Amino acid sequence: MTQTLYSKQQIQTRIKELAKQIASDYKNQPLLLVSILKGSFIFSADMIRALYEQGLTDITVDFMQVSSYGSSRTSSKDPKIISDITTPLQDKHVLIIDDILDTGYTASFVKEHFQTQHPASMKLLVLLDKAEKRAVPLQAEYVGFILQGSPWVEGYGLDTDEQGRARPEIIEK
Ligand code: IMP
Ligand code: MG
Repeated sequence: MTQTLYSKQQIQTRIKELAKQIASDYKNQPLLLVSILKGSFIFSADMIRALYEQGLTDITVDFMQVSSYGSSRTSSKDPKIISDITTPLQDKHVLIIDDILDTGYTASFVKEHFQTQHPASMKLLVLLDKAEKRAVPLQAEYVGFILQGSPWVEGYGLDTDEQGRARPEIIEK
């Protein structure tokens, strides 16, 4: 049975709340938003516009694709870079944006990879958090929703074997 966990409206309301908080935290600092593909492309597109509407207009974006699940639902302990960012990170305020934080292997790998470039600051924003499933000590500074019971979810950019990304709401699969 599929069940809607977060409707279009619930997602947009939460994005606006997060955008208010982030815009106030960064004030007039230039922000580099790094979107982790593929899952976060829709969330990133909505978030960047929500930030702009909250007055944070000095934003640049870059993209990075990291392999995690492949076609299974088990996280890889050893994520690999499929394509890297091209922006130099030194002295930049970096906000990494991902769809979902599960074991944390992907996000901690990305953070370690970026840290070697000495950004001015680095934070993590995720729409969803399977907090109970964390395998490495890592917390996101900004979280949309905490998923109780860590179900498999799909929609709003998140896939099951590449299917379901275009679904406007987030369902439990
Ligand atoms: P982690 O490395 O275990 O934290 O995995 C994070 C990545 O796994 C996310 O960026 C997603 O791409 C993917 N993922 C984890 N849980 C789900 C899910 O429930 N649905 C779809 N993708 C998921
Ligand atoms: Mg992902």
